[in-house]
Amino acid sequence: MSNATSPKRVALIVASTRTPRAGPAISKVALGVIIPLLPAHITVTVVDLMDHPLPLYTADPIIPAGIARPIAETAYADPATNAWSALVRSFDAFIFLTPQYNWGYPASLKLALDALYHEWAGKPALVLSYGNRGGGKAAGQLRQVLEGSAHARLHARGRTRFRPRT
Ligand SMILES: Cc1cc2nc3c(=O)[nH]c(=O)nc-3n(C[C@H](O)[C@H](O)[C@H](O)COP(=O)(O)O)c2cc1C
Repeated sequence: MSNATSPKRVALIVASTRTPRAGPAISKVALGVIIPLLPAHITVTVVDLMDHPLPLYTADPIIPAGIARPIAETAYADPATNAWSALVRSFDAFIFLTPQYNWGYPASLKLALDALYHEWAGKPALVLSYGNRGGGKAAGQLRQVLEGSAHARLHARGRTRFRPRT
């Protein structure tokens, strides 16, 4: 039975997939700030979207919100999406670390979100953004998506802005 000190797994999702990119370095800074604040039963794992490429044009005939639960290991048509589903299901909460590109968050993150539905639902999320001007526009858009119809039960609980020194 789950209680207040049951082990909890948090994914810190690195959304940028460019080469070169600032995301991994900023994730280390974020971990250095976050981990000392957490009780021992909460662990944070970095999940780099670069390591989890997903199909842009999917042949899946059903939308993720229509997937039957419990979600089968082969629920999705694409093996990469099934692997992504299993990984996201294994976490209890998410920290989205997103850069700002042209006032928005990257397509890689939208694809990662839209590939699934129930795997995110009802789990708390924190948005961390960065960019030349702090990434506030990207964070605002991401919060809207997390709070909106597609992920209605995924709650954005806070936001921190990073502005890397140049
Ligand atoms: C295509 C593109 C668009 C960008 N648009 C913005 C922007 O609208 N506002 C901003 O503050 N920074 C913008 N930047 C700067 C990035 O936020 C900054 O370089 C950041 O470090 C990129 O993260 P990454 O290196 O992890 O991909 C943009 C960068 C790129 C590559």
